[in-house]
Amino acid sequence: MNWDAKIIAFCCNWCSYAAADLAGISRLQYSGSIRIIRVLCSGMVHPQQVLHALEKGAAGVMIIGCHSGECHYLKGNELALARAEVIADTLEDLGYAKEQFEFTWVSSAEPERLVAAFHRMSARLADLDRDMPVTITGGAWQQNNET
Ligand code: FES
Repeated sequence: MNWDAKIIAFCCNWCSYAAADLAGISRLQYSGSIRIIRVLCSGMVHPQQVLHALEKGAAGVMIIGCHSGECHYLKGNELALARAEVIADTLEDLGYAKEQFEFTWVSSAEPERLVAAFHRMSARLADLDRDMPVTITGGAWQQNNET
């Protein structure tokens, strides 16, 4: 993976952002490539924001919301899940690898689950890099034909 590449994690204020806080207090380690953006609800992340992050050079984007039935805005996380499926399909159509995007649920009491999700994303992107020599051009992984 390009070590300058960032992974943007949109974290819900009420769950995954609080879990990230707890991870810090618990001294759990995760990649320095992760950049957390706090949002009020995973349902408030617009697909355009995901695309914008990738276009600006992020290696991957995550949206991490409350578990099903625990959204503070009732159905925000269900909306985010429905959007995530569309986002994943759209990104593939645009030439991004499906490994570059993930939607998942983490509660405020699950810092280990959050860190595991960060590790999983970092590992997936590293595997993508290893399996297929690539370079990042405008955020999209592209075959490197200069090998
Ligand atoms: S409040 Fe956390 S996903 Fe809606």
